[in-house]
Amino acid sequence: MPLLEWKEDYALHISEIDEQHKRLLQLINEFYAAIIEQDVPPLGQLISGMLEYSSYHFATEQRYMEQNKYPELEAHRREHDLFIARTQGFYERYKEGRFMSSLEITNFLKEWIADHLANVDQKLGKFLVKKGLS
Ligand SMILES: [Fe+2]
Ligand SMILES: [Fe+2]
Repeated sequence: MPLLEWKEDYALHISEIDEQHKRLLQLINEFYAAIIEQDVPPLGQLISGMLEYSSYHFATEQRYMEQNKYPELEAHRREHDLFIARTQGFYERYKEGRFMSSLEITNFLKEWIADHLANVDQKLGKFLVKKGLS
């Protein structure tokens, strides 16, 4: 059972962003699998993969915001920066060999993404759709 399933409520109706969100949820579900299974990539690899893909995804959203002069760009970018900082913190802890529960990081990722998609990204989606983008 996946931890976080795609639902229509998450759709921004901007296809490039929606596809990336689906991939992000897939990555989170790999963390979930790491908790219950053994034959998955090590946690450090999962975290660095998440950092890489989320940075790429945030850059995409920020490009849409810049190109369309989104008035809430700065606040939205700050949310992205906070996510990267928190996830980077998990990665540092992993590299230092300090104890880290995979459940703790999975819960953080799950809650942050679900909330960000449903609120901050939705707002951006509505703005872009009004501008005629899809
Ligand atoms: Fe997003
Ligand atoms: Fe976002």
